[in-house]
Amino acid sequence: MGRKKVSIVGAGFVGATAAHWAAEKELGDVVLVDILEGIPQGKALDLFEASPVEGFDAKVVGSNGYDETRDSDVVLITSGVPRKPGMSREDLLETNKKIIESVVAEVVARSPKAVLIMVTNPLDTMTYLALKRSGLPKERVLGMAGILDTARFKAFIATELNVSVEDIQSLIMGGHGDEMVPLPRYTTVSGIPLVQLLPKEKIGRLVDRTRKGGGEIVNLLKTGSAFYAPSASAIQMAEAILKDKKRILPCCVYLEGEYGLRDICFGVPVKLGAKGAESIIQVDLNEEEKSLVAKSAESVKKSIAELKI
Ligand SMILES: NC(=O)c1ccc[n+]([C@@H]2O[C@H](COP(=O)([O-])OP(=O)(O)OC[C@H]3O[C@@H](n4cnc5c(N)ncnc54)[C@H](O)[C@@H]3O)[C@@H](O)[C@H]2O)c1
Repeated sequence: MGRKKVSIVGAGFVGATAAHWAAEKELGDVVLVDILEGIPQGKALDLFEASPVEGFDAKVVGSNGYDETRDSDVVLITSGVPRKPGMSREDLLETNKKIIESVVAEVVARSPKAVLIMVTNPLDTMTYLALKRSGLPKERVLGMAGILDTARFKAFIATELNVSVEDIQSLIMGGHGDEMVPLPRYTTVSGIPLVQLLPKEKIGRLVDRTRKGGGEIVNLLKTGSAFYAPSASAIQMAEAILKDKKRILPCCVYLEGEYGLRDICFGVPVKLGAKGAESIIQVDLNEEEKSLVAKSAESVKKSIAELKI
């Protein structure tokens, strides 16, 4: 049995950091691809040279082409332009559409059995585009957003309560935008419902900060956007797939009637295993939560319509 192969397209902040997590976790051999000459090769070699120090066994190679990605098990797609201050995710659509179309064609031609994990924004729309252009089954084209959004919510809750991040379980559904749907009712601290630990107004403030979590980092960095937590989140998905862990995680997937939604890629809880999104879990939502889901879906649908495909 050979090693697994994880290819990462886009060797920028998210892609290169994802390569770091993947290699360190020994998820398999790692291939970094970018159009910038020397960048994927240089970052891959540098990372590989860290392996004797950190003690991980993973080959890491960089390339400006796709031949090295052949027969990948998982491909992370991070290529594109990140958001700049004041720029909405939707502003990115036109530029990133062209990039994703060309990248998906190259990737699928060489790795028709891979699971694709999309990271490029606008996330739900790019996942939809990748699904339609790749011709892959819906189980194998996923988008990363919910894990990141949930991680931010968990981090804020842990800080507020002064407890370990490890004990917090939560769920954020919906599109990756300001209209995401955090679910405090499905949030616990070691099984204790969050709603028993914090007053409603405080939870509301944490929810609000979570919704604007991406923008908070963009405003601090001034150039570029978040990359540590996004890359860690994408690699958590890759790990669940490569190790067939059957984890239940919020991911962006194609819906065909679940939650009353059709022909949309949208964040919902899924079971992640070797086949990709092996099933979609439908949780009960109250009227308020349903209306938030509907609002978020409407904004994702609008963005998908702008693809004109
Ligand atoms: N889904 C999420 O939650 C989430 C979180 C963070 C960032 N993002 C998105 O991820 C993307 C990458 O962010 P980043 O901070 O790494 O940006 P970055 O600019 O650091 O890296 C992007 C890389 O893509 C490369 N690239 C551009 N066109 C390419 C092509 N045709 N083929 C191969 N490579 C190409 C660029 O050369 C660059 O190195 C952005 O779209 C960003 O908005 C999404």
